[in-house]
Amino acid sequence: MGIEKKDLRVAFGKFATGVTVVTTRDSHGAPVGFTASSFTSVSLDPAMLLICMSQHSRSYDAMTNAAGFAVNILSENQKPVSDNFSLKNHDRFENADWKSGPSGYPLLDGCAAWFECQRQNMIKAGDHIILIGKVTGFDSLGHAPLILSQSKFL
Ligand SMILES: Cc1cc2nc3c(=O)[nH]c(=O)nc-3n(C[C@H](O)[C@H](O)[C@H](O)COP(=O)(O)O)c2cc1C
Repeated sequence: MGIEKKDLRVAFGKFATGVTVVTTRDSHGAPVGFTASSFTSVSLDPAMLLICMSQHSRSYDAMTNAAGFAVNILSENQKPVSDNFSLKNHDRFENADWKSGPSGYPLLDGCAAWFECQRQNMIKAGDHIILIGKVTGFDSLGHAPLILSQSKFL
């Protein structure tokens, strides 16, 4: 069966998701982050989650070399934050309100929840890499989440 990427994207988009910004620090300590909807909760005990990152992402080296990362679950009014962290060729963190979390990874202000993780495993899968993290800290805040369905924010 020949698979048209465009059609596959439409079919994958029928699965509604939240939207996250995944962050870490590069080898110089500079903040790095990108928008990702591929977040999945994996395990409660031990607490684990995963995200899938394109192997072509400019965040690839930082994300695969760092000891861990943070996942910021965006809240319903943070569409501009999603846009900011998916646009290329500008300083994403200069345009964001953020602070370092307990483990030093960037946490964005106004999120619905955040998790800090130690990276536990990496699995190359097709044109992406699956990053599996063990949760070392998290918080769930009062905001409702941003929802993405069929390539549109609800
Ligand atoms: C709503 C949304 C969800 C996205 N989800 C993912 C994802 O799960 N994994 C991924 O690698 N890229 C995802 N992207 C694309 C990246 O955010 C974008 O390609 C990347 O930030 C481009 O810049 P980079 O190469 O500097 O990372 C998503 C983009 C948007 C707008």
